[in-house]
Amino acid sequence: MRQSSLVVVANRLPLDDNAAPDGACEWRRSPGGLASALHAILEQTPATWVGWGGGVGPAPALPDIGTLRLRPMSLTEDELRGYYEGFANSTLWPLYHDAVEQPVFDRGWWEAYRKVNRRFAEAAAEVAEPGAAVWVQDYHLQLVPQLLRELRPDLLIGFFMHVPFPPPELFMQLPRRGELIRGMLGADLVGFQREQAAHNFAQLAGKLLGAEGADDAIHFDGRIVHTGAFPVSIDVAEMESLSARPYVRNQARQLRRDLGAHKKVLLSVDRLDYTKGIEHRLTAYSELLRDGRVKLRDMVMVQVAVPSRERVGNYRGLRERIEGEVGRINGEYGRVGEPAIHYLNQPFDRADLAALYQTADVMVVTPLRDGMNLVAKEYVAARGDDTGALVLSEFAGAAAELSDAFLVNPHDVDGLKETLLRALDADPADLARRMAAMRAHITDHDIHAWARAYLTALDHTGGLARHLP
Ligand code: UDP
Ligand code: G6P
Repeated sequence: MRQSSLVVVANRLPLDDNAAPDGACEWRRSPGGLASALHAILEQTPATWVGWGGGVGPAPALPDIGTLRLRPMSLTEDELRGYYEGFANSTLWPLYHDAVEQPVFDRGWWEAYRKVNRRFAEAAAEVAEPGAAVWVQDYHLQLVPQLLRELRPDLLIGFFMHVPFPPPELFMQLPRRGELIRGMLGADLVGFQREQAAHNFAQLAGKLLGAEGADDAIHFDGRIVHTGAFPVSIDVAEMESLSARPYVRNQARQLRRDLGAHKKVLLSVDRLDYTKGIEHRLTAYSELLRDGRVKLRDMVMVQVAVPSRERVGNYRGLRERIEGEVGRINGEYGRVGEPAIHYLNQPFDRADLAALYQTADVMVVTPLRDGMNLVAKEYVAARGDDTGALVLSEFAGAAAELSDAFLVNPHDVDGLKETLLRALDADPADLARRMAAMRAHITDHDIHAWARAYLTALDHTGGLARHLP
C-alpha cells in the first residue's frame, strides 16, 4: 500500500458510482459542496482521498485523478441504512440544521455509525505515511479523529465540519452526544464555517466532558485542541474561465432565447433537500403571480433540484410536495408553451451551471439553514460583467461574507416577496456596485486561500500539541 503525506477522509469520494440505464456502472462527479470544494484543491495535490463511491457491496478499484489517489471504501446495505441514511442523514443532518425537520433517534443506527467510522479510521491509518496530516471531513465521520489518534498517535489530525454546528440546547438532545464530542476532540484542529459554531463546540466540550479553555483552544486529555472558523469557498478562477468559454456563452444565449428574450429570469440551484427552503420560495413566487405583482409575460423561474438521498423518508415526501406545487403553479399561471416555472430534477455539469448562472437576472438562494452554500458564491464568480442580483438567506453561512447580497429571512414569505421585487427592480448601478464588492471578496477568499489557511493552522497546532508535557 502506497502512503501519502496528506490524506483526506470524507464520506464521499469526488466520483459517484451512478447506475446507467442498462445497469452498467458510470462515474460522475459527486453531488454537493464538499466534493466541489475538495476536488478543486486536491486535483493538483499529491494526496490520498479515502471515501465511499456510492453504491453497495465491494468497492471497485478507481484510477488516480492526476496526482490524487482514491482509496474507495465499501458499504454494506445494512451500513448504508444505519450509518448514512440513518444516523448521518436522519439524526445528525436535521438536528444540525435547526431541526427544520424532526431528527429521528433510532438506537440501532449508532452501532453502524461507530463501525463505519472505525473502518474509515483504519483505512486512513493504513495510507498515511509517518507524521502525515490527515484531514477528516464532516458530520458523517465525527468519531474518526479519536479512533485514528488511538491507532496512529504520530499523525497530525484535522477535522472540518461543513455543516452548521448547533447550539447546546439542540445538540444536547442527542443520545450519544458525549461520544460525538469526544470523537472530534481527537483532532489537533477542529474547523467550522462560523465562529459561533466553534463557540458552541467549546461550550459542549466543557458541559459534557469537563474540558476547559476558550473558544479557540480547548484543553482535553493532556492535549490542546485548537478550533476556529474557516469559511469554505469555491475555485473563483475556474468559474471565471469557464464562464468566458465560447460554449458556455453560446449556451447562455440559447437559454435566454428559450426562456424568453424580454423576460427576467429567476434561478435557484439546490440539492432537493428540505433545508434549502424550496417550498417557501415557491409559495412566494406563486403569491406574486397570484396578486399580479409579477406577470407571466415579464418573468420566468428556473428551479434546478438535484435528486439527493432519495431513500431517506423526509426526502421522498419533499419531492412529491415540490412537484405537486410546481404543477399547480404552471397549471394556474402558465400558458401553452410558456410555463411560469421550469423545474429540472437532474444534475448539471459545471459548464451548464455556468451558462445558467449567466442567464439569471436574479439568483434566489434561500435555505432555511446552510453551512455555507457554494452556489451563491458560484453565481457571483460567473457574473464577470457585474450584472445580476443575488437574493440570499440570512441563514446561509455565505451571508456572513456576502453582505452586499439582498439578504432575506426565508421563513418570512412576505419579506421574501418584497425582497424579490426589490432585486428585480434594482438600479443597474446599485447591482454593479454590489456584485463588484462580492466578487472582490470571494476572489480574496477563494478555495485555495481556505485550504492554505486551514492546513497552515493545522501545521502550527500540531507543533504546539507535540510540545505539551
Ligand atoms: N452542483 C452541481 N450540479 C448541479 C447542482 C449543483 O455540480 O446540478 C454543485 C454546485 O455547483 C455546488 C454544489 O453542487 O458546487 C452545491 O454546493 P452547496 O454548498 O451550494 O450545497 P450542498 O449541496 O453542499 O448542500
Ligand atoms: C452536503 C454535506 C456533504 C455531502 C453533500 C451531498 O454538502 O455537507 O458532506 O457530501 O451535502 O450529500 P450526499 O449525501 O449526497 O453526500
